[in-house]
Amino acid sequence: MTAYLNGQFLPIEEARISPLDRGFLFGDGAYEVIPVYSRHPFRLDEHFKRLQHTLDGIRLPNPLSLDDWRAVVARVVRDSASDDQSVYIQVTRGADSRRDQAFPTGVAPTIFAFTAPLVAPSAAQREAGIAVVSAPDNRWSRCDLKTVSLLANVLLRQQAIDAGCVETIMLRDGFLTEGAASNIFVVKDGGLLAPPKDHRMLPGITYDVVLELAARHGMPHEVRDIPEAELRAADELWMTSSTKEILPITRLDGKPVGKGSVAGKPGPAAKQMYAWYCAFRDEVMRK
Ligand code: PDD
Repeated sequence: MTAYLNGQFLPIEEARISPLDRGFLFGDGAYEVIPVYSRHPFRLDEHFKRLQHTLDGIRLPNPLSLDDWRAVVARVVRDSASDDQSVYIQVTRGADSRRDQAFPTGVAPTIFAFTAPLVAPSAAQREAGIAVVSAPDNRWSRCDLKTVSLLANVLLRQQAIDAGCVETIMLRDGFLTEGAASNIFVVKDGGLLAPPKDHRMLPGITYDVVLELAARHGMPHEVRDIPEAELRAADELWMTSSTKEILPITRLDGKPVGKGSVAGKPGPAAKQMYAWYCAFRDEVMRK
């Protein structure tokens, strides 16, 4: 598998960085995960735009032009054996000769990219939905930045795994924020509710696609704070991300999501949105 590291394309096994790299020492860097279908990156420019937002937020100049980034992604995608992939890109503040929290001067950033086969949700997960747990959101207050400082997310997601679940949904001050590695939508009375894109959550690329599709197809939708009571009384819950796409959540903290005969089963709105998503993805890929 070909990776990109600081200007060179090389097998991932041969890629080396310094232990003084600030990504390693401080989690001082930005990243993106880009889904690739049939060797076509999906929403590539939006991912680069968000990368720029993160780099601006952490005061790290973007080391590559948009065209250079596109060329890096194109090359690692081309050299992969898989048609469907997830491309990972990362920029850190580089490796100084010493350890100091303050920004180093005259240090080149570390630029890294590699690709892996896309691990999409299984058919069983799509049919049955997934189980999640909830937890207080104990992350910092710049969750809109996609940085590699992910220890809180790591610990939060492990809570889900330890409970035999797939994801952890977070609440801050009594409001839904997002999942440890995903955004969360609520369906209530046939309408879609989404938390606002502010410092409390990552502005998901899939989140935007979902809201665009809701607007395009006339599904009622509202972006606003979602109190815990509304989360727990949801008719449907979905998680979205570049690699999981749109996945119905059918159990929250051990209880079935939804009411009546559809309780604990994927709801009609999730199925509808996933169908729109697949059609949209295929339409974009054909262009
Ligand atoms: N995670 N929120 C968080 C905290 C995330 O880490 C992610 C994605 C999302 C969804 O964003 P998007 O739709 O742009 O993928 C929301 C990626 C996939 C990851 O870290 O692996």
